[in-house]
Amino acid sequence: MKNKIIVTGGCGYIGSHTVIELIENDFEVVIFDDLSNSTEKTISRIHKITGVKPTFIKVDLKNQEATSKAFEAHKDTLGVIHFAAHKAVGESVEKPLMYYKNNLYSLLNVLESQNENNINNFIFSSSATVYGTPNTLPITEKNETQRPFSPYGNTKKIAEEILDDFTKSSQDFSAISLRYFNPIGAHESGEIGELPNGIPNNLMPYITQTAAGVRDKLMVYGNDYPTKDGTPIRDYIHVVDLAKAHVLAVKRLLKKEQETALEYFNLGTGLGYSVLDVIKTFEKVTESKLNYEITDRRDGDVPQLYASTDLAKEKLGWSADRALEEMISSSWTWEQNLRNETK
Ligand code: WQD
Repeated sequence: MKNKIIVTGGCGYIGSHTVIELIENDFEVVIFDDLSNSTEKTISRIHKITGVKPTFIKVDLKNQEATSKAFEAHKDTLGVIHFAAHKAVGESVEKPLMYYKNNLYSLLNVLESQNENNINNFIFSSSATVYGTPNTLPITEKNETQRPFSPYGNTKKIAEEILDDFTKSSQDFSAISLRYFNPIGAHESGEIGELPNGIPNNLMPYITQTAAGVRDKLMVYGNDYPTKDGTPIRDYIHVVDLAKAHVLAVKRLLKKEQETALEYFNLGTGLGYSVLDVIKTFEKVTESKLNYEITDRRDGDVPQLYASTDLAKEKLGWSADRALEEMISSSWTWEQNLRNETK
């Protein structure tokens, strides 16, 4: 009998990479996904990579009855990794109620169903955006959180506050909130990767789509920041490194090693790269010239964000292994496979 884990949003970008790592660590995985921002094709791609076809249940987690029914069918689950959420910063500014409803109703229904079925381990997909504009760098988990700029980011901060209250109220429930910095890259197989809906918000998919001719040119949002080359600095982390951290977090909870009912860990590399660093590295890795233009700043962008990774190293025994070049080359391979597929 394998340890069973439910992965909500497991057909998505980070979710699918995490499902692969769970399977390769001999967990049985059940994916709950509403396919609103992903495709069921991901299930067969996971099957192709791992030789295992995870159980998939299409479910709208905003619907309490449907969520309860889905959990009822898998009450022998040991824990949940909760990725399911809308995550486009720009869209969240235009449609805040859709974001608060989707991201928070889903969370509340999952927690309630876990409570009903005595499933007491929970891993939350959070974001460095909860730190707002950091007053110290690198950012540690002790940095105060601030009101994030976007409704998307605020759903992550509110979710962590909900978890704080819920874990305090329950004798047995434990949770770990993983605060991602900037996930990029794709699985080495080239079979799965980021599938942004419409025009990408994020830098990496916009770069690869520009290089693939899907977009005309990359707009670089400002080069007048107080950084080495004027463009903002971020802590880019390979999605496979990120996925591996989730498996270690699950193991920490299952072995009841956590020290408090709710723990937070930054997931980054501890290195910061500017937008121009990423562009130059892309050009070097792909031996091509990228068409880009410097334009005005984007609202809400902060000059620098990079992680202290000491706590994840100490408590999860985790650190990121993959360098920026591999993040970029795997992103490019995935983009090219995607374009060939759609031909
Ligand atoms: C990175 C840098 C932009 C696009 C957000 C969320 C975070 C996480 C990742 C959601 C910035 C610049 C970007 C473009 C550009 N979660 N840029 N031209 O904003 O650091 O983080 O996404 O997935 O919670 O806040 O990531 O990739 O959007 O931007 O110049 O077309 O690239 O200004 O400096 P960000 P990003």
